[in-house]
Amino acid sequence: MTNKSVPDRYGVVGHPVDHSRSPLIHTVFARQTGQNLTYELIDAEPGAFETAVRGFGAAGGKGLNITVPHKEAAFALCADRSEAARLAGAVNTISIEAGRLRGDNTDGDGFIRDVTVNQRQALTNRRIVVLGAGGAARGIVGPLLGEQPAEVVIANRTSDRADQLVALFGTDPRLRAVSFDALKEMPAVDVLVNATSAGLKGEVPPFPPSLVGPQSFCYDLVYGSLDTPFVTWAKAQGAGRAVQGWGMLVEQAAQSFWIWRGVRPDTKQLLKQIPR
Ligand code: ATR
Repeated sequence: MTNKSVPDRYGVVGHPVDHSRSPLIHTVFARQTGQNLTYELIDAEPGAFETAVRGFGAAGGKGLNITVPHKEAAFALCADRSEAARLAGAVNTISIEAGRLRGDNTDGDGFIRDVTVNQRQALTNRRIVVLGAGGAARGIVGPLLGEQPAEVVIANRTSDRADQLVALFGTDPRLRAVSFDALKEMPAVDVLVNATSAGLKGEVPPFPPSLVGPQSFCYDLVYGSLDTPFVTWAKAQGAGRAVQGWGMLVEQAAQSFWIWRGVRPDTKQLLKQIPR
């Protein structure tokens, strides 16, 4: 017989992880939905990642979120992986059942839901530029193409990396790579997504101001309690709207919660309660 009063254990593994807002989000979700669970912060250096995950499972833990810098390592560790995880080449959600790890990726879905539902920004038939070609960019390309945009252009400081990212998606005619330099020749875009990690160091990469016009919707995958450097830059260029990724974090968490518990939390309520 299982003891119903013992909460199920979840957590997030990262390095560093002490500033993660996932425990707050999942605690609010659990309260909203009446789910009996706890959610822990687990700091693990890269060399200790596998032991941390397996140890958590061996102690009866039910699921983990995975954050920087472990998402690719988590992908390698999981015996089963969802299609979203395969497309992203990364796992941000692990479900543990009888010691077996199943990996999923809810980042792309969280991004699309925040943009299209919370921000009410259409992506269909839009011209979209993604800045950056690392793990964060890879996680959103497949979900973006699924929204039937007019085109998705990937621009990266190291242009080889943008070519490699595009090549992963075969020969989709709507997807192409350009150099940062070539961005100067482009007219203002409908949607501009910052998937570089430059903002984490307080930097705005040299994006040409001509990319942004009054019709442009600018989105930073990074979030912060204040405007991120990219959001500040986009507003200064006269962007129609510029938002940072707090809503994406909440939506990816909701999707993880749903995978683990089979219950959908009310993200609108949380976003109203905690604007960021
Ligand atoms: P993540 O998982 O956050 O995407 P990553 O895989 O290390 O992290 O990728 C970081 C991305 O930010 C890359 O696209 C990187 O460009 P390079 O491939 O040229 O390194 C980009 N980036 C980081 N700092 C940058 C800066 N100061 N200017 C321009 N691009 C930057």
